Amino acid sequence: MGVAYRQRHRAKPLCRVSSRNSVVARTGNAERLDRRRGNARKYAVQGAAALKSARQGVFMHYDFDAVIDRRGTYSSKWESAALRRGAGRNGETIPMMVADMDFACAPALQAAMHRVADHGIYGYTSYAAEPRYLGSIADWYRRRHRTEIREEWVAYSDGSISAILSALHMFTNTGDGVIILRPVYGRFTGIIQDNLYRKVVSSHLLNDGGYYTVDWDDFERKCAVPTNRAFVLASPANPVGRVWSEGELRRLAEICRKHRVLFVSDEIHSDIVREGAEHRTILSATDDWSNVILVGGITKSFNVAGLRCANVVIPDDTLRGIFTKEFGRRMPSPFSIAAVIAAYDESEEWLGALNRYLDGNVDFALGFLRKRLPQVQVWRPEGTYMLWLDFRAYGLSDAEIHHRIYVDANVLLQDGLIHDSDQGECFQRMCVALPRSVLEQALLRIAAVFA
Ligand SMILES: Cc1ncc(COP(=O)(O)O)c(C=O)c1O
Repeated sequence: MGVAYRQRHRAKPLCRVSSRNSVVARTGNAERLDRRRGNARKYAVQGAAALKSARQGVFMHYDFDAVIDRRGTYSSKWESAALRRGAGRNGETIPMMVADMDFACAPALQAAMHRVADHGIYGYTSYAAEPRYLGSIADWYRRRHRTEIREEWVAYSDGSISAILSALHMFTNTGDGVIILRPVYGRFTGIIQDNLYRKVVSSHLLNDGGYYTVDWDDFERKCAVPTNRAFVLASPANPVGRVWSEGELRRLAEICRKHRVLFVSDEIHSDIVREGAEHRTILSATDDWSNVILVGGITKSFNVAGLRCANVVIPDDTLRGIFTKEFGRRMPSPFSIAAVIAAYDESEEWLGALNRYLDGNVDFALGFLRKRLPQVQVWRPEGTYMLWLDFRAYGLSDAEIHHRIYVDANVLLQDGLIHDSDQGECFQRMCVALPRSVLEQALLRIAAVFA
């Protein structure tokens, strides 16, 4: 694959040397702009071709089965305190608790990182100097998500949580309520109550055998309380794996609007969906964007969470004006700028192959659980690479379940109480974005301690 791939995606120099004799210096701004427009067209064509081949199921071979040692790379998943304790015990702990993937990044993305690193200077950056940065984001939303966004609506953020935190800080006051649909990514709770001193207002999802839906009456009741001023949605939902339908999103947005509640849609998982499922952005699900902030980005889908980059999309002028005034124009690293362009313009085919591999992992895990741990209740997630495992039928305490999995099986998952402090007892979240052979090993170990 290497040669064919490199021929098609020949490395483009990131930085031109601007000497008096160079093309850039001689041709000036007009021609440079022209060339960039040409590039934009070329990338759009490449992206469309990659999407077409992905839809036809024609993929290059990417080796998601490769087991890559991540120790010694500052990985929070592989070098967490808990893992260090486990590693001290026998060096064979399998960490499956953090939402990042044990797969190598797309080849184009790796090449882009090399281009930046090899230049040797990592000074202040400006994404305004590179039209493909915003262009590739806008093209991606158009191609993948049927959503037209204007480039001026997009702001860079060093991660989606920091954007959400800032938005809540700006649009709510100390003591106000912020609504979440639980179970939901535990950091939401952390930023609302511990960082911002706002009140977490939980509207619990209805759990029908592992399939979660909104409790509409409860949600509307909570929105109607005047001091509940914001709602944060994980879309797709982590950890319960729902890809919210257009109808659900529209109804959520309408209820928020009716009660003047700000709607922050965290769509960081939007590009990891099962075959047949379609993520709808909040902007494509509703026409009135007066109370809507969308947060998205490449970190989950392209496995670059360590690069700290997210996009905040705010179409409404007033909201955006307030947000950008306080948030400022934050500066991505040169690695983040190059990564966004390489991911969105050049790695769509890789993403397609990744999604199919993850489909396989999800099915493998569910098949295994059905056979070997039939009392664990789990729904096939429509999106994300998380499984939300319900161990309640074993009749064991939360502490006992934790001990069996984390200590006896030496596999690290994430306790359900992190994502739902009211109803998450005896639930565990499992990240299945790892080579299938390691996934199998982890499942075998867990099955052995529940036999
Ligand atoms: C729904 C959701 N939002 C945000 C994050 C964290 O994003 P970031 O690292 O960009 O702050 C995660 C990480 O798992 C997540 O699942």
